[in-house]
Amino acid sequence: MKILMVCLGNICRSPLAEGILRSKLQKSEFKAMVDSAGTSSYHVGEMADPRSIEVARKFGIDITDHRSRQITRRDFDQFDLIYAMDNSNFRNICNLARNESDLAKVRLFLDVIEPGGMLEVPDPYYSGKDGFVNVFRLIEKASDAIVDELENNIIK
Ligand code: 4NP
Repeated sequence: MKILMVCLGNICRSPLAEGILRSKLQKSEFKAMVDSAGTSSYHVGEMADPRSIEVARKFGIDITDHRSRQITRRDFDQFDLIYAMDNSNFRNICNLARNESDLAKVRLFLDVIEPGGMLEVPDPYYSGKDGFVNVFRLIEKASDAIVDELENNIIK
């Protein structure tokens, strides 16, 4: 199973989602590869935002190896599940899909907590440190639910 986390810049939310889910899967029997990308090219090649690095480090997760990249159509061939952090990114990823099979891989990340609720991981880029802690906790909650679904064969 290969899972891609996607936000706008691939420097704040999706690198955290990648690091958090990977860390949870390391403690699970379920084996999956996790990566992340952005729908924009704004920060390609950059490290994660220092505030994301800091909040991850505080919770024992090292994301300093991360470098931002932009999602491409080829990602639909590489990945089984593509999680969008918010509705705008969800739409942009769907617009890249070439067919129904691509489209079926795209999920709104927080749907795992409240299906159909259209809940979003808020963009913390213009927020302070508190925004990043809030984002970390939200992503952690959804990641726990995703690991649970993967382990119990609920996500297909
Ligand atoms: P991300 O946050 O999508 O969670 O990585 C953002 C990063 C950069 C920008 C917006 C959001 N930006 O406008 O440059």
